[in-house]
Amino acid sequence: MNKSNEILIIGGGIIGLSIAIELQLRGAKVTVISRNFQQIATNAAAGMLAPQAEAIPPGKMLDLCLKSRALYPEWVKKIESISGLPTGYWPCGILTPVYAVKDRKNYALPNLNYQWLNQVAIHQYQPGLSPEVIGGWFYSQDGQVDSRYLYQSMIAAAKELKIEIQAGFVTEIIRQKGKIQSLKTSIGELEAEHYVLATGAWSQELLPIPVFPTKGQMLSLKIPSDVSTKNLPLQQVLFGNQTYIVPRKDGRIIIGATCENIGFVDGNTAAGIQQLLGNAIRLYPVLRNYKILEFWWGFRPNTPDEMPILGKSNYDNLTLATGHYRNGILLAPVTGILIADLIWNDQYNPLLKAFNYSRFVEVEIINN
Ligand code: GLY
Repeated sequence: MNKSNEILIIGGGIIGLSIAIELQLRGAKVTVISRNFQQIATNAAAGMLAPQAEAIPPGKMLDLCLKSRALYPEWVKKIESISGLPTGYWPCGILTPVYAVKDRKNYALPNLNYQWLNQVAIHQYQPGLSPEVIGGWFYSQDGQVDSRYLYQSMIAAAKELKIEIQAGFVTEIIRQKGKIQSLKTSIGELEAEHYVLATGAWSQELLPIPVFPTKGQMLSLKIPSDVSTKNLPLQQVLFGNQTYIVPRKDGRIIIGATCENIGFVDGNTAAGIQQLLGNAIRLYPVLRNYKILEFWWGFRPNTPDEMPILGKSNYDNLTLATGHYRNGILLAPVTGILIADLIWNDQYNPLLKAFNYSRFVEVEIINN
């Protein structure tokens, strides 16, 4: 691309910011336009870095997720050193307790750590679990980051790097002759040399790509005041049957999450919160006495195959980075780096092939 001109990123969540920071560090002049910083999926996420605990089957998606997990330590160090703010990265490992032998699923892959803890071992390893738990896998390389701290740190890093961040929303993408001409937005018409669509669950409002919202309701609890944060009762994430329990170092405990395909219907519901609390208390009964801090919800950007849409589009000067579904926080480093390589250095990583939007486009060949 013409390196003297500007790159406009539509979407200011963790994916948009990751790409923006990577590009600006390489010398690009980047502007980010973001609709509503409160609504973005980043704020809702628990921040699990869990390719193994999520049981992503072997294939390109797992490859991408593992690559990103491996990038995390260096990537957060970079963000923290630019911003001066912590990200809450904690490679604490994830334990996946199960109630029945049939749930003992695991993909045995080389170079990955995993360990089955039997009934005796798991209760010794993690006191306080439900007596129903019969064992579980421990994934020592999975972990977490505090998505809200991470987001604040990334915003501060973006400001430090002089990335222009505009509050507004795009109403129309003006296209002409296979190129994006400009964007009509709530803050006027914007033009750039290159554009990146990173609008998560809202992507389909702008382009006909198959991204739809999957709502997740969540809540947080607080460890009792007589328990020191130096002596947290949970030292790793618990990822159980339709529940996950994520301890933060400051004594908060995040509980997630529902998966609801109901469109953009906002708000927490009694049934959603009942489901979250019921599953979490069943798995780790001591939670029943912890105080509730907060309820919230967010919209995951889902796709028909639950994989992100990354890379080139039908338009020469538009790159896509959306649809990260349950793995946006995990995939932020690899998305930022691969998309910056593509746009700025014209370097195409073959891993991107599996994530191109064209996998959803059926070409009908008519033989006359
Ligand atoms: N990453 C977990 C979730 O989306 O609920």
